[in-house]
Amino acid sequence: MAVTLKSWLLEASRQLQEAGQENARQEAEMLLCQQLQKNTAYLFAWPELTLTPIQQEQLASWLQQRLDGRPLAWILGAWEFWGLRLEVSPATLIPRADTECLVEQALSLGEAPALRVMDLGTGTGALALALKKERPGWQVEAVDFQPAAVTLARKNARQLELDVRIWQSDWWQSVPPGDYDLILSNPPYIHPDDPHLLQGDVRFEPQTALVGGDDGLEAYRKLLSGIEQRLKPGGWLLVEQGYDQAEAVAELFARAGLVEISGFQDYAGQPRITQGRRPKV
Ligand SMILES: C[S@@+](CC[C@H](N)C(=O)[O-])C[C@H]1O[C@@H](n2cnc3c(N)ncnc32)[C@H](O)[C@@H]1O
Repeated sequence: MAVTLKSWLLEASRQLQEAGQENARQEAEMLLCQQLQKNTAYLFAWPELTLTPIQQEQLASWLQQRLDGRPLAWILGAWEFWGLRLEVSPATLIPRADTECLVEQALSLGEAPALRVMDLGTGTGALALALKKERPGWQVEAVDFQPAAVTLARKNARQLELDVRIWQSDWWQSVPPGDYDLILSNPPYIHPDDPHLLQGDVRFEPQTALVGGDDGLEAYRKLLSGIEQRLKPGGWLLVEQGYDQAEAVAELFARAGLVEISGFQDYAGQPRITQGRRPKV
């Protein structure tokens, strides 16, 4: 029997829903769009179009991977962040929509034409590339300690034609002292005992992108230890944190001598961002 776009979507959505995927229909549409290299409007315009045996075989393989829990972003090979299509890989985190709040907050700090910015633990390059896209005049730099993440972020920068300097560094180790106006980071911050590590996409993503040492806060201590030599007086530090870490992170900021410390919520209303400033001299 011929498999049409409509019949494939119905069956795939049913299977995904049975497997407990919340956005079953949307995920099925995304897989089909990827296979056809078309947008969703095409699926609705041509519901009776039949799939070739080769298309069916590829789709069956993708669907099975998804039913086995493999992140949809990895199956698609790319994910959208701040309207940018970013390649993803098992080397690092799949960018999350909540992290866009960090971009928003960074942009709200001003439209100064030539800020110097550092994104620590850049992964796919998500934060650095979003900022460069919005503020082409800013000098945006980024590091990650995973060589494969550095390669991936550079590839994304090239494909998007965004001029961001990206290199390998274990936090500040290979970043010379400097005069950054803005330092931002979405570091690994999950507590090693957090049950969320056993759920959803997170089960597949590398621990190096997720777990923040013994208490979830290790990366913040590392970042803060290099601030004095690199953040300009009056410059800003912005980090993402876990939903229950706002107080602890604010305390670390204060202990590191930062001032004007404040917190911001993500789109779900969780305290997600801490911002602080180096005192002006
Ligand atoms: C939570 S992910 C965030 C990735 C990206 N910034 C984003 O928001 O999608 C944390 C990133 O920090 C990187 N990382 C972990 N430990 C690091 C270290 N010691 N030095 C530099 N980067 C590190 C990981 O490889 C990973 O890419």
